[in-house]
Amino acid sequence: MPATMELIDQYIEDNRDAFQQDLFELLKIPSVSTDSRHKNDMQLAAAWVADQFRAIQFQTEIVPTPGHPIVYAQSPKIDGAPTVLVYGHYDVQPPDPLDEWLSPPFEPTVRDGSVYARGATDDKGQMLTHIKSAQAWINAGKTLPIQIKYLIEGEEEVGSSNLDGFLNENLDRLDCDIAVISDTSQFGPGKPAITYGLKGIVYFEVFLRGPRQDLHSGTFGGSVANPANAMAKIMGSLVDENGRVTLDGFYDDVLDLTVEEREQFASLDFDEQRFREQIGVSETFGEQGFTTLERRWARPTCDVNGIYSGYQGEGAKTVLPCFAGGKVSCRLVPNQDPDKVRDAMKKHLQANCPPGLDLEVICHHGAPGIVVPLDSPYVSAAASAIEHGFGVAPVFIREGGSIPVVTAFKELLGVDTLLLGWGLDDDNTHSPNEKFSLGDFHRGIKASAHLWNEIGNI
Ligand code: BES
Ligand code: MN
Ligand code: MN
Repeated sequence: MPATMELIDQYIEDNRDAFQQDLFELLKIPSVSTDSRHKNDMQLAAAWVADQFRAIQFQTEIVPTPGHPIVYAQSPKIDGAPTVLVYGHYDVQPPDPLDEWLSPPFEPTVRDGSVYARGATDDKGQMLTHIKSAQAWINAGKTLPIQIKYLIEGEEEVGSSNLDGFLNENLDRLDCDIAVISDTSQFGPGKPAITYGLKGIVYFEVFLRGPRQDLHSGTFGGSVANPANAMAKIMGSLVDENGRVTLDGFYDDVLDLTVEEREQFASLDFDEQRFREQIGVSETFGEQGFTTLERRWARPTCDVNGIYSGYQGEGAKTVLPCFAGGKVSCRLVPNQDPDKVRDAMKKHLQANCPPGLDLEVICHHGAPGIVVPLDSPYVSAAASAIEHGFGVAPVFIREGGSIPVVTAFKELLGVDTLLLGWGLDDDNTHSPNEKFSLGDFHRGIKASAHLWNEIGNI
């Protein structure tokens, strides 16, 4: 190993605790993007991230948007060397339900070698590895071999609605050769992964309104359409008993899995029983004819995310609710058109709405699915870097989650993205007791530091 990397590895080793303390500082800021009560915390988190870059003299800017600010920073241009664009997000999901947390969500607490806090893995911990790695290079007295640009946003968890605007207005400034994101998972503990496919998403809210106000369910029941009954029926009609989505034309554009890819998925040592135990179910369910990994990574799905209506208090109350609400999302695979799926969903909902009820549908964020090519020198560079950081070569996986900016980078900047996952499937992302392994935080920083070196050698 060249002496430079030995020095940097040593610096990362020596600063393990200091890096963790910094992570804890960031985790203490409740930067919940969807909740307007946290608007000021969003500013604080953006300022904290910006200070990380200023500490190593990167050109840094906090860019206001109609929503939450974007932090942009860059190191000096290195002539003849590639430029990398790192993306991450400093916003987090709401911590609810609060009762379920073993330690408060914004008081980072270490148990069994992991830090527990909202945002630990998604995405503060993972994002920070790419900042700490640059700090390690510079504070170890070395010059970064490549230029690194950082785009850290505060609206990922609410659909990144102001990001495309920023990208479009800054196409020259964001010019780069490859993008890097750590906001995904390893295949399992000690099995770091390069993710080459993400699902897309379309998200809907559905409102059903009936009588002017709630009614006595004896006096009026059976004589008017009940919004709660109707909502249950409509939502229940979206997926059939074989796990197939019933929307008209839903599968028309879906690219079938190739024999090779099915073989590759099957060759990963996925433990079905452990999976069931992890999520607490006695059986898995999904589209017939596909394995669990195929369903999760490469088949489109439709899931109700929430239904609410009627009396929610203790005990029985005989009431016919005048209103029902529902939230539903479809996860899409490459080649499916979000707009087409949106139209099919609207038609389906309308067609299944009983007479006498008023239906309203709101369409939220949408993004297509994406697969990134694996035959690139950047992927090889990332694989070597991961081997340096984690001690093992990465496996290649797809994910069921969505990171819409990956499509935007391809379409607007013309670059592919390296999705380097340091998290774990059981990190409780978006759930109570979110965590991130401190060992993986450390290994992620090391892998990232080596990534700059490996890309510099391309
Ligand atoms: N980090 C996740 C995406 C993710 C989750 C990737 C699981 C791989 C595995 C990201 O922060 C996220 O939650 N994305 C949203 C996107 C949505 C708000 C447009 C998602 O997937 O629900
Ligand atoms: Mn994320
Ligand atoms: Mn998330």
